[in-house]
Amino acid sequence: MVNVAIMGYGVVGSGVVDVITQHSESLAQKAKEEISIKYILDIRDFPDSPFADKFTKSFDQILNDDEVRIVVEVMGGLKPAYDFVKSCLLAGKSVVTSNKELVAAKGAELLKIAQEKNVNFLFEASVGGGIPIIRPMTQCLAANDVIEIAGILNGTTNFILTKMIRDKMEFNDALLLAQQLGYAERNPAADIEGHDACRKICILAAIAYGKHVYPESVKTEGITNITLEDVAYADSWGGVIKLIGQAKILENGKLEIFVAPMFISRESQLSSVDDVFNGILVRGDETGDIVFYGKGAGKYPTASAVVADVVDCVKHFKARKYLGWEDTTENYVADYNDYKFSAYLRCISNNDRNAVEKAKSLFGDIQIINRSNQPENEFAFISPVKSSSEIDKAISALAEYGIETISKIRVGEV
Ligand code: HSE
Repeated sequence: MVNVAIMGYGVVGSGVVDVITQHSESLAQKAKEEISIKYILDIRDFPDSPFADKFTKSFDQILNDDEVRIVVEVMGGLKPAYDFVKSCLLAGKSVVTSNKELVAAKGAELLKIAQEKNVNFLFEASVGGGIPIIRPMTQCLAANDVIEIAGILNGTTNFILTKMIRDKMEFNDALLLAQQLGYAERNPAADIEGHDACRKICILAAIAYGKHVYPESVKTEGITNITLEDVAYADSWGGVIKLIGQAKILENGKLEIFVAPMFISRESQLSSVDDVFNGILVRGDETGDIVFYGKGAGKYPTASAVVADVVDCVKHFKARKYLGWEDTTENYVADYNDYKFSAYLRCISNNDRNAVEKAKSLFGDIQIINRSNQPENEFAFISPVKSSSEIDKAISALAEYGIETISKIRVGEV
């Protein structure tokens, strides 16, 4: 029998307890050992829970119990998760986590400790919820050079955008619904401001290219400025707005990486990834495009990935699964100002009949797009491909003519 401790009894933690309990027989068959929950760590009391006898508030009780060989960290956040996970690894326990913030911030360090202690540190649930993506990228696609990764990596924002696109629901109502369904982070700012998706693309880029990517170095934009008007323009252009995380290695060896809302053409496979689903496109040099699709958030999809990692730990006590990447060298991430893309821009011009002509003179060959109920003083267009700094310069020049740009969204080529 293998004893496991679960740290955190929130949405995911309670899902992990349910899955281990409800699938105990088949898990024992697959792991070749019975998996038993010995402790559940939480600061709250759950006197009416059927697992009431397993609750503890003492992390030291778990740390000092040699019978506990696997610790599941599903608390989220860095404090105290980082200290707890590090202590468990140093004490020779394998750790499974769904905590993308932890992996994105401290992955290189924690993987190194796991290697030194010959234990496992696994985090399949940290990206894509229930979608298998970490293992396929580290194992099944190992023969490929990854040319590019582009994905819808956050279920909450995809759910919100889908509601805005399909039902014309207002942003805040859709967010409330996502929270009620258990998709959002404790602080949903991490979802809607793009930080959660950023952590996930950093983890995927680290696996693909072998170097840790710190989220602070990644240009990250969320969906808080997206309006129903932008959604209407995207529709008339021939697509939808999705929050995309993207990473690729440039010829000079630097990493181009960002998170931003994007116009995605209806032709793209990612355009039909809706609701809480995530879609991750990995372009391998040998495989071509592979798309991973499934529920990217929610109690049981995420718990499923966590429990599968627990089974893997049980099967690999004596044969550590190799997973690791180097810490980052300086200037690894390319300067966002140099990234080249085409942009959708929505502008307001109160007194200038020649506003569109001015936009043409600054941007070059623009494609005008329209929407129903478009006010007379508003126009929108798709710019030609330019560097981010060139686009910003042209926007400033428009402003000098009194033409205000009220929306700027990248146009994706995924
Ligand atoms: N809040 C996250 C999301 C949870 O919505 O995708 C899963 O990582």
